[in-house]
Amino acid sequence: MSIISVKAPAKINLYLHITGRREDGYHLLDSLFVFAKDGDVIHVRSSDRLSLKITGAYAKNLSEEDDNIVLKAARLLAESCHQEPVAEIVLEKNLPVSAGIGGGSSDAAATLKALLRLWNKRISDRELKEIALRLGADVPSCLAAKPVQVSGIGEILTPAPELPDLHMLLVNPNRPVSTPAVFKARGENFSEPFPFTRKMTDFASFVRELSYRHNDLSQAACQIEPSVFDVLEELGSDPLCRLARMSGSGGTCFGIFSNCFDASLCCHRIQKKHPDWWFLNTRV
Ligand code: C5P
Repeated sequence: MSIISVKAPAKINLYLHITGRREDGYHLLDSLFVFAKDGDVIHVRSSDRLSLKITGAYAKNLSEEDDNIVLKAARLLAESCHQEPVAEIVLEKNLPVSAGIGGGSSDAAATLKALLRLWNKRISDRELKEIALRLGADVPSCLAAKPVQVSGIGEILTPAPELPDLHMLLVNPNRPVSTPAVFKARGENFSEPFPFTRKMTDFASFVRELSYRHNDLSQAACQIEPSVFDVLEELGSDPLCRLARMSGSGGTCFGIFSNCFDASLCCHRIQKKHPDWWFLNTRV
């Protein structure tokens, strides 16, 4: 029986400016989303019913019940395709949960892609994006799974200009951070949008440009979960790290390095001090 596997890569917000708030409470963003080469994986195969099993390091942090975003994605897609929502799904959960790197959103996007193939269905890009947005503000960009400038609440996607290869160390204090709580705790100030509009292939100038931008949710995340501040301090004070920032609503932070060796050395040093934190040395 054929098995379809689709990667659900970690999403990283290189910067995240909150530029306004809609009447329904959702916030308007300006952000550059990139995707790591590593992440979770969705496997699907035919079945006469819908089921989900979760494996991997973070399996225990998630429920396999109906409220899992993977099952929600399967049901919404089936409805749009006039298809019975039947498939055996396995989610390999390698990324920490409630971590600001789009784990759930990326899993949902990968599920949509995998099931379209399994069910041999086609729907328009517009319809697929609508389903994605109903599942979560970050799901449309996770469907793209390549660098995008994001605005609106997450639904307006513009291809990002060419970027240099980036070696990154992702670090999470292994403490979940609630996205609604972080948005609620943020101050009332808004930032200006500051999208990347021109090609940026030189590493040093890219890092300099990025340093002019920030993550408007960092302060609130650090207040709610002080260990996020410790992660930012550890990365930011490492002499090999060229820039450290938080992704999404936290608590995962990333350090940018000029090569994978420097990223490994930094990982080794921090891991010795904080063996209970989560680390991923990856590329985008
Ligand atoms: O859409 P998603 O489920 O990822 O959003 C989780 C929560 O984060 C929302 O309920 C909202 O409180 C907050 N949020 C927001 N503005 C966004 C995205 C999320 O206020 N653009």
